[in-house]
Amino acid sequence: MNRRSDLTFKHNLKHGRHGWLRLTPAYSIKVVREILDEHPAFDYVLDPFSGTGTTGLVCGERGLRCDLLDINPFLVWFAGVKTSNFTPDELLEAKKKIRDVLAASKEYKQQKFWLPPIKDIDRWWPESCQNFLSRIYKAINESLPENSPAKDIFLVAFCRCLMQWSNAAFNHQSMSFKERKETLFDHQERDLLASSFERNVEMVIDSAAQRIEGEVRVILADSRQVPEPADKQYDCVITSPPYPNRMSYIRELRPYMYWLGYLKEAREAGELDWQAIGGTWGIATSRLSNWKPNGREIMYSGFQEIITGIADESTLLANYTARGMK
Ligand SMILES: C[S@@+](CC[C@H](N)C(=O)[O-])C[C@H]1O[C@@H](n2cnc3c(N)ncnc32)[C@H](O)[C@@H]1O
Repeated sequence: MNRRSDLTFKHNLKHGRHGWLRLTPAYSIKVVREILDEHPAFDYVLDPFSGTGTTGLVCGERGLRCDLLDINPFLVWFAGVKTSNFTPDELLEAKKKIRDVLAASKEYKQQKFWLPPIKDIDRWWPESCQNFLSRIYKAINESLPENSPAKDIFLVAFCRCLMQWSNAAFNHQSMSFKERKETLFDHQERDLLASSFERNVEMVIDSAAQRIEGEVRVILADSRQVPEPADKQYDCVITSPPYPNRMSYIRELRPYMYWLGYLKEAREAGELDWQAIGGTWGIATSRLSNWKPNGREIMYSGFQEIITGIADESTLLANYTARGMK
């Protein structure tokens, strides 16, 4: 079967805010645009599995209302920033801060810096790069006010650097580490990383200037219990739910979540994945083996037959599928 990369996250990478961060299971803006083109009367949309906020940003760009729900707090923060409006003054303020952040990052004298407790961190980034990331992260936190638009912009740019500078390679569902490149002299590498960081902040600032006309709300929620809409009923649901392929979102999101403090220890990653539909990271898989249905009835009468059919091949996969519904 031919892969249609125009229907995946790849298509979004060159479209301003849509390209801020890649998430392999994100879908293309084309999908959302086509649905909305076919239904011009829709004006209040729900995406109960919103991930990086693709649906919300397309709706916002068209002046529509959209509620986004996701169970992952990092994605809720990120989609919130991605669909926010920034004033020209806020963007100017952010631009002015680039020099301050880089200057502050150079001044820290300690040899050892804080690093997130991500397993095998040396496989993600070479030591010199870890050190620079840590200095930049500290400088962002110390130079910019908490919860300010400028800080959000810098954190998005920081997340872009995390992935660009890492040795991680994403091959469809799996993730591996590339061969490590030769390291340059320290000072050369630092200069290269500093200009890469600067370019990333500028990229985010430039695309953040786009005006979002619609009203987008991003809510941290478990979509098995969808909260009430703000007033009237939704006109439609546009979403891509967790896929039945044992793909873990945490796996790909770990670097962002550890650095930004959404995960403080390995166990939390497994716990969060256990809450999510389809989570299979860490503790989630062993719990899945012993999971029993909670008795909640599924409205589709052929559901049990499907689960029994899957169980003939694999009990784990049958539990995985059944648990997503309950
Ligand atoms: C396929 S991804 C959505 C990608 C999205 N369309 C995009 O373009 O970025 C599915 C999302 O469902 C979320 N999720 C999984 N279980 C959930 C639950 N019970 N309630 C809400 N969100 C959940 C995951 O965190 C993930 O972000």
